[in-house]
Amino acid sequence: MRKLFIAGNWKMNHTGTETERFCRELRAKGLEGHKADLLLCPPYTSIHAMVSVLGDSAMNVGAQNLHEKDSGAYTAEISADMIRDAGCTYVLIGHSERRRYFHESDEGVNAKLKKALDKDLSPIVCIGEKKEEREDGVTEKVVRKQLLAALEGLSAEAAGKVTLAYEPVWAIGTGLTASPEQAQEVHRFIRRTLAENLDGHVADRIRILYGGGAKPANAEALLSEEDIDGLLIGGASLKVDDLYKIIEIADTINK
Ligand code: 13P
Repeated sequence: MRKLFIAGNWKMNHTGTETERFCRELRAKGLEGHKADLLLCPPYTSIHAMVSVLGDSAMNVGAQNLHEKDSGAYTAEISADMIRDAGCTYVLIGHSERRRYFHESDEGVNAKLKKALDKDLSPIVCIGEKKEEREDGVTEKVVRKQLLAALEGLSAEAAGKVTLAYEPVWAIGTGLTASPEQAQEVHRFIRRTLAENLDGHVADRIRILYGGGAKPANAEALLSEEDIDGLLIGGASLKVDDLYKIIEIADTINK
């Protein structure tokens, strides 16, 4: 049994002031007793505001990135210790926007993942194919390469602490969404790849979230698929009502 997981990635949205207001409104709706684990990843500058309002609630707080070194002359970078000290328990790693705009490599993702695990942060590693790769029929090849490169050198036990997010790049912020069947097909492939390369039990335990155009209108269908264990939500997590609706939809999923 994998517990459902509803996570929001705010990307570069919401100031600290906006974050505080958002969190108060969200908290007033009721965050306790839901079926899914809950997570929001605000910008670094909003972590404090979010932790101040939601730190003692069921909502977990995460960062959107980390640096693989502990400290030093890396202007503008943020370390795992800094993230933890700020109150985060999760961290996103290898989001496609980091790979695309900031040239993050598979090797870099692997180094960040090892650092996050080392520092007891729960990592969510993002993988997914671009539009042209899907059109060329190499989705599985691309996803497999990203997955195995991210997990390189990890024991099965360490890999068991990772959450994965399948985020097809063509469905991120584009208004497009993978159909539940398309997403399930890749999620099943990811789980099979995990089983072949790690322990079968570990592969069964690892949660695989779907991200890309997730919203209240498609959440039920996506979450009902066997290998979709949750959602990593961008745009819809910026609105209290949409996010809360998705949390409530997850309450109704039986599997
Ligand atoms: P959207 O939900 O806005 O498509 O973004 C998905 C995403 O990138 C989450 O990390």
